[in-house]
Amino acid sequence: MATLRPAAAAARPAASRLFCPSRPRASFPTPSLRAATTAGVRFKSGPYGYTQAKALVYSKYGEPSDVLHLHTHSISPSLPSSSVLLRTLAAPINPADVNTIQGTYGAKPTFSPLLGTPEPSAVGGNEGCFEVVSVGSSVSTLKKGDWVVPATTGFGSWRTHVLVEDERGLIRVDKEGLSAVQVATVSVNPSSAYRMLRDYVDLIGLSVEGYNKGRASGGAWFIQNGANSGVGRAAVQLGKLWGLRSINVVRARESKEETERLKEELKELGATVVVTEEEFLERGFAARMREEWTDGGREEVMLGLNCVGGQSASQLAKCLGEGGTMVTYGAMSKKPVALPTGLLIFKDLRFRGFWLSRWANADKEGKRRTIQEILGLVREGKFRESPVQELKWEWETEEKVLKEAVQGTLQGFRPGKGVFVFGET
Ligand SMILES: NC(=O)c1ccc[n+]([C@@H]2O[C@H](COP(=O)([O-])OP(=O)(O)OC[C@H]3O[C@@H](n4cnc5c(N)ncnc54)[C@H](OP(=O)(O)O)[C@@H]3O)[C@@H](O)[C@H]2O)c1
Repeated sequence: MATLRPAAAAARPAASRLFCPSRPRASFPTPSLRAATTAGVRFKSGPYGYTQAKALVYSKYGEPSDVLHLHTHSISPSLPSSSVLLRTLAAPINPADVNTIQGTYGAKPTFSPLLGTPEPSAVGGNEGCFEVVSVGSSVSTLKKGDWVVPATTGFGSWRTHVLVEDERGLIRVDKEGLSAVQVATVSVNPSSAYRMLRDYVDLIGLSVEGYNKGRASGGAWFIQNGANSGVGRAAVQLGKLWGLRSINVVRARESKEETERLKEELKELGATVVVTEEEFLERGFAARMREEWTDGGREEVMLGLNCVGGQSASQLAKCLGEGGTMVTYGAMSKKPVALPTGLLIFKDLRFRGFWLSRWANADKEGKRRTIQEILGLVREGKFRESPVQELKWEWETEEKVLKEAVQGTLQGFRPGKGVFVFGET
């Protein structure tokens, strides 16, 4: 993926000098833009057809509020023949995006000089929903007005516009019946939940086996902590759609009423059982689970999804049946996963790690299919996106406001995931 080619970067200073954000921006359709693209001219563009763009960038690791900067740059109207110019419609702020900026994430960004920042920089964010503004002459699968999501990881989505080198770096999405926020939030969390429920333990096969043995009460069980997270809510819903049953652990809210409301919310999504972390960590929880929900332990829980770590992860492991698998995909408590040795020896549990990026880079077609399938479910009203806190990103929105939205992401007890929703940019 490219942002600016060196040639365009060389032309930037003149265009940047001419651009004045405090005045209305003029539209100057140019013959070169018309010649270079198969689509029409953007309504709002800078002098000589340059697209004026802004990006939240960082040049070193640190806290988002310290290291993020809002950078203005221009994108040349003469697109390379294979490239695609996009306008961002919505881009979420995920915990991993913050970890990446902090320098603690598994994948490191490429700091590049292409945006013309004083120091080489990377653009924050990883997923989003984008609208095609114009395409190069050899682009055949996309046209102006199409909606796309990145096919690659580390995309850098917190920006108003992006020039992508190759159409193969994008997945076209049928926008019919979908909102930009729904499309922007599908690639990371719902896709992770989908893969973790399908790729480690054959829960659907276990459900069929159970029915064949005369189990009438329901499908196979899985258990998860962080159940009200984006991933957790997606797992609840997909699990329900696939006939699975789930035990879900959430942290209690400030009041009993709020806790009950959260439990009910998850049950409405399809959760079978919802408990607070306090209930979960009580001695004897595994026995309670067997007595109350899993038919005296005859219906073993064979998959656990852990995004918390610490005691919560140890307890999750204790709830698994013989040969069960715990998949760790996050560490929201920042505490390590400590496991009683007996679980490994006597119960032969398997401990795996899931990283969406590894899967997505290894199976690009699988990523495309997973995203399209989930969006199909959203369109049919069978899958609800997680609660979000929309933050409007207009052309005038100040750097401080954008940075604050990112900084708050790792705080607990949030009413919804932060999502930048782009207005007239
Ligand atoms: N490995 C992968 O490929 C992959 C892919 C997607 C996501 N993830 C990870 O999955 C996790 C959830 O991501 P998300 O985007 O779905 O989250 P999210 O929607 O932003 O929600 C955050 C979740 O973390 C919980 N949480 C926050 N601080 C916590 C703490 N100190 N102790 C316990 N729980 C805490 C929150 O519970 P409260 O509401 O109670 O605060 C909430 O359930 C993150 O760790 C993320 O990095 C990993």
